[in-house]
Amino acid sequence: MSGEHMSGNRCELMELGFSIDTWGEVVMVFYSKGEVIGLMPVGLKLSEDCTLAGRLYRGSKLYSYIASAKVAELPCIACISEDPQLFYMAVFEKSQTIEIFTEHRCPEEFCDACLIGLCKFFDGDEAINLKISVKEIALHRKTPRVFTRASAAIIEALVWFTKLPYVDCKDIERVLERIELLKETVYRSSQKNIYAKLIENIYLAAFKLVKEDESSRCGSRDKNI
Ligand SMILES: Cc1cc2nc3c(=O)[nH]c(=O)nc-3n(C[C@H](O)[C@H](O)[C@H](O)COP(=O)(O)O)c2cc1C
Repeated sequence: MSGEHMSGNRCELMELGFSIDTWGEVVMVFYSKGEVIGLMPVGLKLSEDCTLAGRLYRGSKLYSYIASAKVAELPCIACISEDPQLFYMAVFEKSQTIEIFTEHRCPEEFCDACLIGLCKFFDGDEAINLKISVKEIALHRKTPRVFTRASAAIIEALVWFTKLPYVDCKDIERVLERIELLKETVYRSSQKNIYAKLIENIYLAAFKLVKEDESSRCGSRDKNI
């Protein structure tokens, strides 16, 4: 569809928070002959031509279906929501969620917006590559935004950083490890320079604080163990 959702030179999908450098998480629903044949959370990145790209990793039922039946394309919907309940349901309550999407193409209760289009599948090295040409955008909210693990991880790291001065001495190293894991999540889910800078600064500030605490309030004499 390249350009179908372009307004001037700008791709409308950017207004929903999709970008070329950060994975946006959606719940994808795949159809064949009008029936839902697959539903799963998937990460998507914007491509230069205003299409979306994703990857289906070995292990999901959909991966096995596409690989064995050599399916080239399927109609699909990407449900956009910032509410983690949708993602939970897509993993733990899959058949009920499939029913919901069978009754309503874009259920208002669960999707802030839906991208309706065609998914094309291509063989990749370790995954099946997915390319979505968006034909229609259904909006249920005024300003829907796609969920990104990178921004969630940065907020979570900030929360832990602000808690550090009050954390029991026996737990401060564990909090630092947690912030380090969140740093890895940001690296894995985004190539946005500013996100890398933010998480690196949070980690460095946390590291400094822990080292200071270890030589002051958590020093060997008054260690809270
Ligand atoms: C937020 C989130 C994002 C995910 N992104 C992907 C992805 O991009 N590609 C993928 O193959 N699996 C991804 N997964 C894992 C699949 O959703 C999971 O393997 C799938 O739900 C399994 O479905 P099945 O039980 O029908 O095989 C993601 C899971 C979550 C929770």
